[in-house]
Amino acid sequence: MWEDEININEVKEIRSKTTVYLGVGAIKKIYDIAENLKKSGINKVIVMTGKGAYKKTGAWDYVEDALKKSNIDYLLYNKVTPNPTVDEVDDAAKLGREFGAQAVIGIGGGSPIDASKSTAILLSYTDKTARDIYEFTFTPEKAAPIVAINLTHGTGTEADRFAVVTIPEKGFKPAAAYDCLYPIYAIDDPQLMVGLPRNQTLYVSVDAVNHVFEAATSKVRSPYTVLLAKETIRLVSKYLPIVLENPQDLKARYYLTYASLIAGIAFDNGLLHFTHALEHPLSGVNPKVIHGHGLGILLPSVIKVVYPAVPEVVADIFSDVLPELKGTKDETDKAVNGVRNWLNDLGIKEGLRDLGFTKADLDKITELVFTTPSLDLLLSMAPVDATKEVVKEIYTNAF
Ligand SMILES: [Fe+2]
Repeated sequence: MWEDEININEVKEIRSKTTVYLGVGAIKKIYDIAENLKKSGINKVIVMTGKGAYKKTGAWDYVEDALKKSNIDYLLYNKVTPNPTVDEVDDAAKLGREFGAQAVIGIGGGSPIDASKSTAILLSYTDKTARDIYEFTFTPEKAAPIVAINLTHGTGTEADRFAVVTIPEKGFKPAAAYDCLYPIYAIDDPQLMVGLPRNQTLYVSVDAVNHVFEAATSKVRSPYTVLLAKETIRLVSKYLPIVLENPQDLKARYYLTYASLIAGIAFDNGLLHFTHALEHPLSGVNPKVIHGHGLGILLPSVIKVVYPAVPEVVADIFSDVLPELKGTKDETDKAVNGVRNWLNDLGIKEGLRDLGFTKADLDKITELVFTTPSLDLLLSMAPVDATKEVVKEIYTNAF
């Protein structure tokens, strides 16, 4: 395969609206990035991250050194949790404003990077709060410059215009999407990801698969999103089992990172629909639910509902996993079982019950799909009508 001929140690520049540095050793690009920030007049930044991975991966050594070498003062906010809340963002924004931060560097997976993006908006709108962003009381048109140093291969947030933050008292986990949320630079260095625990490795890749599945089957799908979807699923199906077997395999990590990046670009273009709209209430209500895990549990049930509407696309994008699919409406069960078995083989064997939900929660989570701000947009992108009955049916089949 041509993949074998690519020198993964040569850092490539991949441009969307974000300039992404992809490759083993890409973290060293932080020196150039820091210099560029300095040249553009930035003297103070807030660095946002979780509690440990930024150090354990070695990313912090480079970031701290680069900021010092470029004479940029930094404030380290290392308290972002998985499924970050509006309160954390407000906390970081308050500290960042007091410090005089002019840019935000996010280090981590989706949670720290999305919290960083949200904080970047609040640095530009000093009279607003994170609840204003996620209750959509205003439309942000600017944000402080964002740099994303990605430590997982799943969310695609390092190169897209989305951010997701939870409003805990409401169980809402809305997604904001604004052009000002594109990071100016992103680093995708697979070397920083070799320590990702097995389950996280699995769940983030399943997140990427859902991004492309939805982007390729939404009402606004395009030849581009279908192309990116097919390649993402091919790469994940080939390299994820290798990484689950040998977490240190850099070439496999490289292609999973690339797959996650292009999956992010795919849904930046084709948007998302059922799987994400139905997962957000799960992790919104129970922050212990890991996004990619919830998505993996829902995916077969979503395919059951949408396959008859988009059989050719689904058969095409899954052709490396399920070559037997021909793309006809009558093979829905074959597609559902095929994807379920694939996910099962990779390690997703649970149902919603195992995440702590019972049938008594059905009405509540169904209601949240329709009341959480921003999810209505995702529902409107689904290739079949997103009625309450359909949503309930998807959840029911995922128990
Ligand atoms: Fe996602």
